[in-house]
Amino acid sequence: MEEKLNSLKEELKEKLSEAKKEADILNIKSEYVGKKSEIANILSSLKDMSIEDKKKYGSLINNTKKEMENLVALRLEELENKSNITFDDSIHFEVENGSLHPVTIIAHEITDILKRMGFTVVSGPEMESEYYNFEALNVPKDHPARDMQDTYFLDNGMLLRTQTSDNQIHAMENFKAPLRICSPGRVFRNEDLDANHENTFFQIEGMVIDKGVTIENLLYVMQNLLKEIFHEDVKVRLRPGFFPFTEPSYEMDMSCLICGGKGCPTCKNSGWIEMVGSGMVHPSVLRAGGINPDEYTGFAFGFGLTRLAMMKYKINDIRVLNSGDIRYLSEFNIE
Ligand code: DAH
Repeated sequence: MEEKLNSLKEELKEKLSEAKKEADILNIKSEYVGKKSEIANILSSLKDMSIEDKKKYGSLINNTKKEMENLVALRLEELENKSNITFDDSIHFEVENGSLHPVTIIAHEITDILKRMGFTVVSGPEMESEYYNFEALNVPKDHPARDMQDTYFLDNGMLLRTQTSDNQIHAMENFKAPLRICSPGRVFRNEDLDANHENTFFQIEGMVIDKGVTIENLLYVMQNLLKEIFHEDVKVRLRPGFFPFTEPSYEMDMSCLICGGKGCPTCKNSGWIEMVGSGMVHPSVLRAGGINPDEYTGFAFGFGLTRLAMMKYKINDIRVLNSGDIRYLSEFNIE
C-alpha cells in the first residue's frame, strides 16, 4: 500500500512539473485527486477493510491525498505569480529617505508639551453628525456662525467635520468633569484655495474643565505653548472674538514669521496670522456634555495646526502641504 501511494504522489509531481498552463494543471488535478481518481478510490475502499487495516492505512491514505492536493495548489500558485510579475531590471532609480510631514511633527510637539501639562490626547471621527459638529456646540441650524464654516454635507446625512471642537462634546460625554484633553485632527471646509486656505487642514483642540478654572489659566497655557513651540518669545496679540461655544471668546494672532510682520500674501498683508480661537466654555456646551455649569467652569482652544507648521517651517503656501511632493519635505530639513 505504502508503495502504491508513494508512486501515485511521485507520478503527480512529475506531471505537475511538466504542466505549463493552468488548464493542464486543472486536468491533472481531476485525474489525480478528483472524484474518480485512484486515490479517491483507495480512500473509499477503506470502509471495506478490516479494522486492523483501517487503523494501519487510514491516516496514511488521508494524508497522502492532502499532500497531493497541496502539490496541485502550490503549482497553481506558482504559475499565477509567474504570470503577474514582470520585473524590468533595466530601470534604475535612487531610493530617497522620506521624513515625517511638517504637520505631523508639529502635532507630536504640541501633544508632547500638552501631555507634560497633564492633558490626555484623544481622537474623534472625521465623518461627524451635525449634532456634534454644530448643535451641541451651541450652533443651531440657521445660526450665522455656520456661514463661517462652509460645510461638506454627505449623502448619508452626516458631514465632514469642519473643526476639532466636536471632540469637546465626545470628551465630556466619555470622561465627565474634571477633564483635560487635547485632540489633533484633520478638518474640512469648502474653501477657495489660496496661499493661506485649503479645503483640508489640521487643527488641535484643547479643553480643560475643573472647579474654579479661569481666563488666566487659559492665557497661561496659550503663552507657554507658543513659547515652547517656537523656542522664543513670539509676538502675539489677543483680540475679542466670537465663537458660539465660548463666552467670552478670544482670538490670538501671531506676528507673521514669513515676512517678519511687514505684510505678505500668506498673512494677507496684515502682518498677523490668526492662530488660535479660544474662550471660556459656554454653559450650554457644558450642559450638552452632561456637566453642571454651576459646579464646573472650563476653557477651550483650537489651534490651526497647519498654520503653525507654516510659521515654524516658513512655508509660504499652504497648498504644498497636501501636494505630496517629497522635494518640499526634504527642503525643510526636518528629521
Ligand atoms: N473651532 C473653532 C474654529 O475652527 C476654533 C475654536 C474657537 C476652538 C474657540 C475652540 C474655541 O475650542 O474655544 O474656528
